[in-house]
Amino acid sequence: MCGIVGYTGNEQAAPILLEGLAKLEYRGYDSAGLAVRDGEKLAEVVKATGKLYHLADKTDQGRALPGTCGIGHTRWATHGDPSMVNAHPHVSGNCSGSGSGQVESDVVGVHNGIIENFAELKEKLLHHGYEFYSDTDTEVVVKLVDYYYKKYKIGPVDAITRTMVRVRGSYALALMFKDFPGEIFAARKDSPLIIGTAKDASYLASDVPAILKYTRSVYYIGNLQAARVSPGQVKFYDLNGDEVTLPLSEITWDAAAAEKDGYEHFMLKEIHEQPAAVRDTLNSLVKEGRVSFSDAGLTDEIIRAVTQIDIVACGSAWHVGMAAQYVLEDLACVPVRVELASEFRYRSIPLGEHTLVIVISQSGETADSLAALRVAKERGAKTLAVVNVIGSSIAREADHVLYTLAGPEIAVATTKAYSAQLIAMDALAVQMAFVRGVISQEKYAQMLEELSTIPDKIKRVLEEKERIQWFSSKIVNAHDIFFIGRGLDYAISLEGSLKMKEISYIHSEAYAAGELKHGTISLIENNTLVIGVLTQSRLFEKTVSNMMECKSRGAYLMGLTTNGNFSVEDSVDFTVYVPKTDEHFVASLAVVPLQLLGYYTSVSRGLDVDKPRNLAKSVTVE
Ligand code: M6R
Repeated sequence: MCGIVGYTGNEQAAPILLEGLAKLEYRGYDSAGLAVRDGEKLAEVVKATGKLYHLADKTDQGRALPGTCGIGHTRWATHGDPSMVNAHPHVSGNCSGSGSGQVESDVVGVHNGIIENFAELKEKLLHHGYEFYSDTDTEVVVKLVDYYYKKYKIGPVDAITRTMVRVRGSYALALMFKDFPGEIFAARKDSPLIIGTAKDASYLASDVPAILKYTRSVYYIGNLQAARVSPGQVKFYDLNGDEVTLPLSEITWDAAAAEKDGYEHFMLKEIHEQPAAVRDTLNSLVKEGRVSFSDAGLTDEIIRAVTQIDIVACGSAWHVGMAAQYVLEDLACVPVRVELASEFRYRSIPLGEHTLVIVISQSGETADSLAALRVAKERGAKTLAVVNVIGSSIAREADHVLYTLAGPEIAVATTKAYSAQLIAMDALAVQMAFVRGVISQEKYAQMLEELSTIPDKIKRVLEEKERIQWFSSKIVNAHDIFFIGRGLDYAISLEGSLKMKEISYIHSEAYAAGELKHGTISLIENNTLVIGVLTQSRLFEKTVSNMMECKSRGAYLMGLTTNGNFSVEDSVDFTVYVPKTDEHFVASLAVVPLQLLGYYTSVSRGLDVDKPRNLAKSVTVE
């Protein structure tokens, strides 16, 4: 939610900042803004509502803004509507009109996160004569920094650390002070922020792709830490204002991985990257015919001692948990609960030292998942994070981390990260089953062999994409779509439905097929599309019966099943087949046509596939 960037060096800052923001636009795109300083001159602020190209047009791609030090922001509105006045950067002084132009203020800043006690702080600042021009919590925090800066006549770092003590919530902040040209000051709590350095330049960003073109040497600023950034140099401070040393990390990503590479959209590119994402993740876990979680520090002893697993996540990552639940229970005979992180964090679920809480997250920054992880740790459970972004908050705070190797995922709708998470969870289930003596050595080897065929089988599914594209052109005007399935097929339905609704804006729901008769079937009318997922042989007939109940009430049916189940064609209007595999692992294949269906439907409707309305890639607010 929201992306921030900063640059200080010898080059013109604005084009670099705009380029960085373009890489972060997946984090929010309601409005955007820049503040740039030309030497000692006052900061120049420019803002624009809507997508980033409006800001780029307004500043002639940044060329119209002189200056070598600046900060930028792309917004996903939390406090205040997406308007010029609420767009960042925000300033400590008064400002008229939209807030663009030269700013007299002592402090100007951008922020990602939420200041929970902003109302109380605003009240305090009003008492001290401050006036407010926007509805944002960011304006409050910028003014609070200014207040401490002036009241105690202290330096920027001390003013910032005092502010950090006073505010509640989450923030990644980048601030410029009138008296400190050429420098950017930063602070972080529970929102991502990295600082990169090169020879005579330094860069700040919410995420790696924004600075990858310029440097691979980055610092991960810690929670409740502040930074003073000048060209090629960064100093870090703790909450007391004492200097601390942080290690410099090297980013090993391929820069091309964050580009579209000839595909029309990131989502389509990422769908096609799934064979590689799954293979790389699997290869990092299976070595010499055995699954090894040694990098995660997850020993066989720990796995053996687990009596209960709680999987906690949000959105698609939660769907991975739902799928993994069936596989873990069936293979490893271990009780599994799957909880939405936003609910888990406020429940009083008893956890003990033999409970393994698995937090699944692509970004590793999802606010609810991070909070749930902390709750689990407080209650004494062991925690395992399955995370894609290296060095993210969830990865840093969990007891054990299992990295998925999907590479950077840019499209808001997740695809390859979902698949990488799924294969990691399958590998965990197989290992648990073996270590706990539920499956034999022979079965273990067989299952690992089958897992290794999944990447090629995904490729085969992708070869059928034209059929899905054709079908999506038929359903482009659908009002409602129902995805149904039982067992693992229900978990697959959940993800298929989310992929459809989040990018096509067609209302869709996923139901456990057996639940339809308990209410939902009343929504079925002539031509309502019902997609039945039918990959589990034990449940096949039952779900087909449920589909027939819909058909007799007018529904139009699509069946998604595995090769060989040709009898389904007698009952449904359109069938999609995926290759056969061990039924525990079939979600990795069956999800792909559903991703493609959502994708092509969104394209046919002329929508912004990669940046669907109202959404952001990583939800760093509660
Ligand atoms: O970064 P995370 O995996 O924690 O994100 C969780 C959800 O926000 C995410 O899966 C979301 O539901 C996606 N838009 C789904 O495509």
